[in-house]
Amino acid sequence: RPKPVRNVCFVGAGYVGGPTAAVIAHQNPSINVTVVDKDQRRIRRWNSRHLPIYEPGLADIVRVARDGLLPFGKEDEQLSARKPNLFFSSDVSKSIAESDIVLIAVNTPTKTRGAGSGRATDMTSFEAVAAEVVRHAKPGTIIVEKSTVPCRTAEMIQEMIRIQRPGTHFEILSNPEFLAAGTAVQDLLNPDRIIIGSAPTPEGRTAGETLAGVYASWIDRSRILTTNVWSSELAKLVANSMLAQRLSSINSISAICEATGAEVKEVSAAIGRDARLGDKFLRAGIGFGGSCFAKDINSLAYIAESLGLHEVAEYWRQVLKINNYQRDRFAARVIQRLRNTLVTKKVTVLGYAFKKNTSDTREAPALEIIKTLLDENPREIAVYDPCCNPYVIENEIRSLQNHGSPALNEDGGPVMVYSDAYEACAGANAIIIVTDFDEFRNEPIAAVVKGSAETQTSEIQNRFNVEPECAADCPDCHTTYGESTDHTYTAKEQLDWSRISTDMTSPKWLFDGRCIIDASKMSKLGIRVESIGSAG
Ligand code: UGA
Repeated sequence: RPKPVRNVCFVGAGYVGGPTAAVIAHQNPSINVTVVDKDQRRIRRWNSRHLPIYEPGLADIVRVARDGLLPFGKEDEQLSARKPNLFFSSDVSKSIAESDIVLIAVNTPTKTRGAGSGRATDMTSFEAVAAEVVRHAKPGTIIVEKSTVPCRTAEMIQEMIRIQRPGTHFEILSNPEFLAAGTAVQDLLNPDRIIIGSAPTPEGRTAGETLAGVYASWIDRSRILTTNVWSSELAKLVANSMLAQRLSSINSISAICEATGAEVKEVSAAIGRDARLGDKFLRAGIGFGGSCFAKDINSLAYIAESLGLHEVAEYWRQVLKINNYQRDRFAARVIQRLRNTLVTKKVTVLGYAFKKNTSDTREAPALEIIKTLLDENPREIAVYDPCCNPYVIENEIRSLQNHGSPALNEDGGPVMVYSDAYEACAGANAIIIVTDFDEFRNEPIAAVVKGSAETQTSEIQNRFNVEPECAADCPDCHTTYGESTDHTYTAKEQLDWSRISTDMTSPKWLFDGRCIIDASKMSKLGIRVESIGSAG
C-alpha cells in the first residue's frame, strides 16, 4: 500500500522545480514541500517578494502556499487563510534527509566539451545531486527524476545506490515535466497527462502509486499514466522532439509559401482542421528557441547514434537544421529588403524572450538575429521586451563581439536596450517582431467564453493564440484560473501602432517574424509589412 506523504523535497529551484513545487504545495495543503538549491541567492529571491522567474499566476500560488495568505484580489473574502507549506532553503542535505519523496529538478543542458560535445546531455549537475540524494536520503525514500534525462538514467542512480548505500532500498521513478514557459501554472493545474515510470515490481508500482496520490489531489486519475522507467524517460525526449519537428515542418512550408503566394496561416488553418493532425503548434515563425527543444533533439539523436542508428539520428538532426535555416532566412530577408545596407538605418527589435509571457531568454532567436544585423554595421539596433529586465538583455548583448568591437551602445556599440516600446520604435526605418507578445498585435483580442475553466482555456488558446487572462472589468471574474463561470478576456494593453508609425522614418518597414500582424491594417498606417510565410 502507498505510504502517506508528509514531506516532499525538490532539488533545483529553477524554471521546473520552483513552479512545480509551488503548485504541488498549493494543491496539497497537508504536504510540506521544500525546494532546495545550493545557490543561496536564488533561494533568497524565492523567499522574497520578487520571485526569480516570471510566470503568469505564479506569484498568487506562492503567496498562498509560501505565505499562507489569501490570493491577490481575494483578501477581503471570508476565507480562512492556511498554514504555509511551501519552503525554499539552501540546506540541501537536511531537506533530503527529512523527505518521503525527493524530486531531482536540475538543469541537464547539452555538453559543450569533451565526448559528445554539442550533442550529448551534460549530466554533471544531475549526477552530483543524485549522489547527494543517495548519500542523505532515509531508507525507503522515493527518488524521482524530474529533469529531462537520457534513457536509462535510473540505472545509473541504482548503480550509485549499490556502491554508496549497499543493502539500502530506494525506488527510482521517472516523472518528466511537460510545462511550457509562460504557461507553467496553467499547464501544472490542467496537464494533458502525468507520466510516472517505475520498476515493474510490486515495490516499484507502489512507489508510483505514492507519487500518483500527490497529483491525484487535483488531477483526474485517468490522466495519470504509469509506464516502465525507460518509456517514461524516452517519452519526454520524444514529445519535445515531435513538437519541434512539427514546427520545422510548418516553417519549411512557410518558405514555399513566400515563393508561391500561398499564405502559411491559411495552410495551417486548413490542415489543422484535420482531427488527425490537430490545430496546435502550427504557427510558423522565426524558428523555435528555449532551453529544451534543441537540447532534447540533440539528446535523442545522440542516443540513436550511440545505438548505431545513424539514419534515425540524421532524421532528427534535420529538424534543427531547418530551425536555423528559418531564422537565418528571415534575417537575410530583412537585410535584403533594406537594400543590403543598414549603415544609416535604425532597426528596432520587438521582443527578446524566446516566446511571449516569459522573461526566459535561453536559446532565444533574437540574439542570433541581432548578431546578423550587427554584421551590416547599422546606425542603431533598438531592443524592447515587455517581460525581460533590460539589464539581462544588456548583459547578453555585451557578451557579443562584433568584429572585435563592442555591440552595446554605452560601450560604444550600436545596440540600445529600451524599457519603453515607443522610444525604441521612434525614428526606426524597420521594426522586427521577434517574440509573439500579445501587445505587439494590431488586432484587438477580446472574447466572452463560456464553460468550464478547461474549455475556456483551450478555446481562448485556439481562437486567439493567447493565454486566458481575465480583463480587469470582467463582470464574472473572481480569479484568473480554476472557476466555472463565463469570463471576458482581452489581451493586455496593445501598442498604438498609429503613434508608432507617425514617429518612424520612411520607408517604414515591419517584419513580422511571428505571424501576428494584420498586414492590410498596417498598410493603412503607411507601414509595409513582410511576414513569415507570406509573399507580401
Ligand atoms: C517545451 C514544451 O512545449 C513543454 O511541453 C516542455 O515541458 C518544455 O519544452 C520543456 O521540456 O521544459 P517551452 O520550450 O517552454 O516548452 O515552450 P513552447 O511553447 O513549446 O515553445 C517553444 C518554441 O516554439 C518557442 O520559441 C515558441 O515561440 C515556438 N513556437 C511554438 C512556434 O514558433 N510556433 C508554435 O506554434 C508554437
